[in-house]
Amino acid sequence: MDKKNQPNRIIRRRFLQIGSAFAGSAIFLPLSGNYVFDAISGNITKNSIPAVKLNNGLHMPRVGFGTNTLTGDIGERSVYDAISVGYRLIDTATVYGNEESVGAGIKRSAIKREELFVTSKLWVDDSGYEKSKKAFQTSLDKLGLEYLDLYLIHRPRGDVKGSWKAMEELYAEGKIKAIGVSNFNPAQLEELMAYAKVKPVINQVETHVFFQEHELYEDLKKRGVQMEAWSPFAAGRNGIFSNETLAAIGEKYNKSIAQVVLRWHFQRGIVAIPRSSQKAHMIENLNIFDFELTRSDIQSIARLDLNTTQFPEWG
Ligand SMILES: NC(=O)c1ccc[n+]([C@@H]2O[C@H](COP(=O)([O-])OP(=O)(O)OC[C@H]3O[C@@H](n4cnc5c(N)ncnc54)[C@H](OP(=O)(O)O)[C@@H]3O)[C@@H](O)[C@H]2O)c1
Repeated sequence: MDKKNQPNRIIRRRFLQIGSAFAGSAIFLPLSGNYVFDAISGNITKNSIPAVKLNNGLHMPRVGFGTNTLTGDIGERSVYDAISVGYRLIDTATVYGNEESVGAGIKRSAIKREELFVTSKLWVDDSGYEKSKKAFQTSLDKLGLEYLDLYLIHRPRGDVKGSWKAMEELYAEGKIKAIGVSNFNPAQLEELMAYAKVKPVINQVETHVFFQEHELYEDLKKRGVQMEAWSPFAAGRNGIFSNETLAAIGEKYNKSIAQVVLRWHFQRGIVAIPRSSQKAHMIENLNIFDFELTRSDIQSIARLDLNTTQFPEWG
């Protein structure tokens, strides 16, 4: 066995030992004073995930489920599993080509629509007023939903102003509960806010332990725009799941590297949307509300920052 992976494996084994009991009755301790998404009955596990109040008053779970690359039957099954173990925030996008699968997973879960928080994103090819309206309706139809909780401009390309106007109108009509952006830098956000009648609630950006984005973090905080992390595990790049610093921190709390990373996002106040195709990982990734990283843990994690993207090919 690779020596480097050993501590993490031991932690994982311990987690799985507790895991079978946990999977049957996954009740997370809600943090006091937080709004929680709560109690689904029937064969769906009772669960509580703390939520954040967005700048338009809407509540959003602070941990959600990412679906990039989860297409076809795997997409449907993964979304169904995710909802069954307690996820309520589901993140998809037109460009993932899986809105139909995500919709099928939601339908199969038989969960009440109002219990869910569904995000989709407008792709760059659909930028501009008319095209955005059409693309939004196509997303809704593919998902089989009457409304979206959150709709984001996926990238700051093309006619952003026209798209934003269309989204503001859909928001006013109640077809979207909140609107926001993704992959915007502070200058791009500034430009949008100069003409926006409705302020974006979210900026969904790449951030993880190797790309901590401190300046953007402070900028969004100042603007009252919630930061949401895409690829919270850097999609597994740069050896994150065998990182010795993260493994050593996890060992202190009997937590896996994935749990340490998600707890770090949580304590930063960032909404994270980890993806997994494995039910055991989905459960593990929600089991982060019963421990706390210390200032010294956070300082150790701060030293992992490479201050650069792990996805240069998307630049
Ligand atoms: N707005 C944007 O431009 C943008 C860009 C990229 C992504 N996103 C969104 O962000 C979501 C998350 O990002 P991502 O999909 O790139 O990657 P990610 O969530 O950072 O990492 C996913 C990888 O981590 C593994 N994993 C998950 N839980 C684990 C655990 N407990 N232990 C070990 N491995 C674990 C998964 O493998 P297994 O399947 O084997 O568990 C998968 O290989 C996407 O799905 C998408 O919704 C948005």
